Amino acid sequence: MRKDKLLMTPGPTMIPHKVRETMARQIIHHRTKEFERYFVKMNEGLKKVFQTQNPVLTLVSSGTGGMEAAVANAFSPGDKVLVVSTGVFGDRFVKITTRFGLDVKVINVPWGCGADPEEIKKFLDSPEGDGVKGVFVTHNETSTGVANDIKGIGEVLKGRDCLYIVDAISSLGGMEVKTDEWGIDMVIAGSQKALMLPPGLAFVSVSEKAWKAIEKSKLPKFYFDFLAYRKSLNDNTTPYTTAVSLVIAASEALDMILEEGLENIFARHRNLAEACRAAVKALGLELFADERYASDLITSIKAPEGIDIDQVRKIMNLQYDIMVTGGQQHLKGKIMRIGHMGYVDGFDLLKTITALELSLLKVGYKLELGTGVTAALKTLKM
Ligand SMILES: Cc1ncc(COP(=O)(O)O)c(C=O)c1O
Repeated sequence: MRKDKLLMTPGPTMIPHKVRETMARQIIHHRTKEFERYFVKMNEGLKKVFQTQNPVLTLVSSGTGGMEAAVANAFSPGDKVLVVSTGVFGDRFVKITTRFGLDVKVINVPWGCGADPEEIKKFLDSPEGDGVKGVFVTHNETSTGVANDIKGIGEVLKGRDCLYIVDAISSLGGMEVKTDEWGIDMVIAGSQKALMLPPGLAFVSVSEKAWKAIEKSKLPKFYFDFLAYRKSLNDNTTPYTTAVSLVIAASEALDMILEEGLENIFARHRNLAEACRAAVKALGLELFADERYASDLITSIKAPEGIDIDQVRKIMNLQYDIMVTGGQQHLKGKIMRIGHMGYVDGFDLLKTITALELSLLKVGYKLELGTGVTAALKTLKM
């Protein structure tokens, strides 16, 4: 018997039945009152999850499109910006800002560690940091399993004449992001992670301060021109044909999120992460991310000496139908990443740890069956 594959990955993630059902319906036209109702409902839900009073724009793209759009809309050629990079996705901001001709300064944090707000403050107060117009930070660095202190960084940026741009692509809806209270000018989210939707939509919140920069920006853009999105949003519509089915699905997924309650969702994810780490440690495995910065949404595990971690993943996938991911770039073959974001509960995690134990045994790793599961079970609040 084959069941649906369980995606315990950092995205795409599992989609609730209620949300999937909406996408099987016949298409409706995007310039109708019927569609407008879904669009308005989605936008209201997004504001609550983003914890913002400002508009949240919906782009038909993956998360990277949202990152590119944030850069293209808020800056002009030669603008000095600071990218705080903690892994693959921080580096992506370096690539995008460089490609758009900005003057890019970078704070590179060792992979597995989180950014230190004090280091950012020091940089901005130094001559090199003078005139920085934007600071880019990844919230949940999915490539390493680290969550950055977005609130703390917001505090050191308060009162400065620069925009604070946060990639919350893999965290929004799973970990707290208080967009307005923490002073974030643009928060970028992706549909296929904690928001329990398929890939295809990026969401970007835009503060008053960011709109002022956008109005002055001289970088070229057309499809992603935020001024066109703002104008349409005022009429409860989108400038171009949007992904109708995904918007309807999003209005349903956001309903589910608000019904569970943000605080409950954050607590569920925190507990899943604690249980996952407890299991990993009980199995004698080592965590990759420094625990002080460990993400609530993804756990990275170092490959034990002499164990082919990619083979372990392969067995989990092909034999037990549970998909987790490996390392990216120089971490290929060196780590495994277990995603526990979105539509995930304790039983999903227990299944994953069971499959991990069985697969590790098959490649010759010594363990007592049930050790990890027991540790997880003792930690899970179920
Ligand atoms: C933190 C983070 N930023 C950016 C991205 C890129 O998003 P996408 O693959 O949707 O373009 C991802 C996707 O894994 C991510 O996890």
